Amino acid sequence: MTTDIEHLAHADAHPTGRMDEIVSLCKRRGFVFQSSEIYGGVQSVYDYGPLGVELKNNLRDAWWRAMVREHEEIVGVDAGILMHPEVWVTSGHVSTFSDPLVECQNCHRRFRADEFPELEAGGDGDASKAQCPVCGVKGQFTDPRQFNLMFKTYMGPVEDEGAVTYLRPETAQGAYVNFKNVLDSTRVKVPFGIAQVGKAFRNEITPGNFIFRTREFEQMEMQYFVEPGTDEAWFETWRERRRAWLTGIGLRGPRLRVHEHPEDKLAHYAKRAIDFEYLFPHGWAELEGVHNRTDYDLSRHQEASGKKMEYVDASTNTRFVPYVIETAIGLNRLLLAVLADAYHEEEVEGETRTVLRLHPSLAPTSVAVFPLVKKDGMPEMAERIAADLRRVLPVFYDESGSIGRRYRRQDEAGTPFCVTVDGQSIDDGTVTVRDRDTLEQDRVPARALRTILAERLAGPDA
Ligand code: GAP
Repeated sequence: MTTDIEHLAHADAHPTGRMDEIVSLCKRRGFVFQSSEIYGGVQSVYDYGPLGVELKNNLRDAWWRAMVREHEEIVGVDAGILMHPEVWVTSGHVSTFSDPLVECQNCHRRFRADEFPELEAGGDGDASKAQCPVCGVKGQFTDPRQFNLMFKTYMGPVEDEGAVTYLRPETAQGAYVNFKNVLDSTRVKVPFGIAQVGKAFRNEITPGNFIFRTREFEQMEMQYFVEPGTDEAWFETWRERRRAWLTGIGLRGPRLRVHEHPEDKLAHYAKRAIDFEYLFPHGWAELEGVHNRTDYDLSRHQEASGKKMEYVDASTNTRFVPYVIETAIGLNRLLLAVLADAYHEEEVEGETRTVLRLHPSLAPTSVAVFPLVKKDGMPEMAERIAADLRRVLPVFYDESGSIGRRYRRQDEAGTPFCVTVDGQSIDDGTVTVRDRDTLEQDRVPARALRTILAERLAGPDA
């Protein structure tokens, strides 16, 4: 069941960028590169370039600020990617974290069975009509078999069954296994949260759509531990907080909708789950999940480890295993949504300009500083301004090419402000500040720049 929370009819008339435009901008301007490109590339693994790493860090920091710093009752952990293998047996991932896989017997390519409605059990199912998207042959798929998505590896020098472990497929388990440690080492009381940002790995059968679905990615997850019986209200609260955050960082509301998971499609640990779907260049798809995981994980870990996972409420002298409301978003997927949302092409003075209208606090470079021309003391003054601003902000200094070209390059990089030193600057100490979105230029005293830019760059509210 899919419920639009707002309707596309009300959407900002501007569509998001097309995937090919975004991929090309990412390579051209150093946001995202194909991994190991000089060797022909590795399918579905990507490297973040100089602008991409800054944007990713800014998104991660904005999430951490909103989820941890601004909540007294939420703390962070940074657990290892490799965990005790029993964690994944207990969590249910060894037995159930799988997708149905089919193989085309003609070209031997493998796909997720759920990409073909004809193959779905109980569906409209004439398997002879299912067509291979690679070789085009029909009706040659094997029966679906379950394929576990976890990456297996060996811990230590002996590669035998006893040394098998996994690269974590979700960060959440790092919070659950540290539940007691956090309770015992901090003063948190239920309800409280444990947040974590880190890499996760899934051997996806069909990764794709650029950085949307990859085998290595980063998650930003928060597990909120609540008293049973209060879980449904907390679920609503976190859904609304997360919606506010997503729109607060600039994603256009009409491009977000909520998908409620039907009961028969819920993950093995969930009582209720919704996805925030975003209208990506390839269509509506999951961006973030909010899940009611009940006491499933803590209870299972209690049973398997023999260690108590109870919370004792001293005020009422009651004990219980808390329920968990989880918020889970992929950092890389969020970066794709933010880039797609920010991408605009528009006509300015008879020319097409590409501009990334990123929220100013997320932009990889906050301000670019230019001398209008390379003479008459302008470069020296501009360099002094850049050096001063660099102490507090990410700054880019550029003196090459025409001023129009320099502005366009910064528009493509999403830089919200450009400061230009001109002839008048030398006479009266003022500079112009150009706004990326309105194209307006204000003349301000150079000595007031730090204050003016700090105000204009203020981050989104939590
Ligand atoms: N701990 C719960 C959990 O992992 P999930 O819905 O499987 O839930 C959470 O994943 C988020 O992680 C997704 O909403 C998505 O943003 C991101 N994600 C999942 N698989 C991904 C992949 N293969 N590539 C990129 N991001 C992924």
